[in-house]
Amino acid sequence: MPDEIAGETATTLMTAAREAARRAYVPYSRFPVGAALLTDDGAIFTGCNIENASYGLTVCAERVAIFTAAAAGYRVVRAIAVSAPRATTVSPCGACRQVLNEFVPPDGDLLVLMDAADSMVLQPLAALLPRSFGPRELANASPSDDASRPAEP
Ligand code: THU
Repeated sequence: MPDEIAGETATTLMTAAREAARRAYVPYSRFPVGAALLTDDGAIFTGCNIENASYGLTVCAERVAIFTAAAAGYRVVRAIAVSAPRATTVSPCGACRQVLNEFVPPDGDLLVLMDAADSMVLQPLAALLPRSFGPRELANASPSDDASRPAEP
């Protein structure tokens, strides 16, 4: 079932995302975010945003969840839920959309679930990141043997 997940699974993911937001390390923004993703075999990984005194080193909740799953050996993300208790709704930043695009299921799209008061907003990643650049573009590139040659002056 490529582009859909059961309502029960969506609720489980969003509950996990809300719980993860409680572990956010956000002394600078005070804007906690939690994420929970579903792998191809039904495993769930969570993440929260982790900020840094050197502000630019902050990592979003989504990427913490994705990298944790990837480090555990997973390469396919079926869905990801995101929750920010201090916002009505939150959708992944551009950097996280691109990182998610790396792990889209081969047989369908990755579903993004965004928390909203008493409901959720569901969107396929393709709608959030149209005309994306990803692994498929590299795999489909025409062969070239001149990449190692120095550029002409
Ligand atoms: N943030 C996330 O973790 N995920 C998002 O989708 C949006 C932004 C974090 C980064 C930073 O710690 C805080 O929210 C404010 O930008």
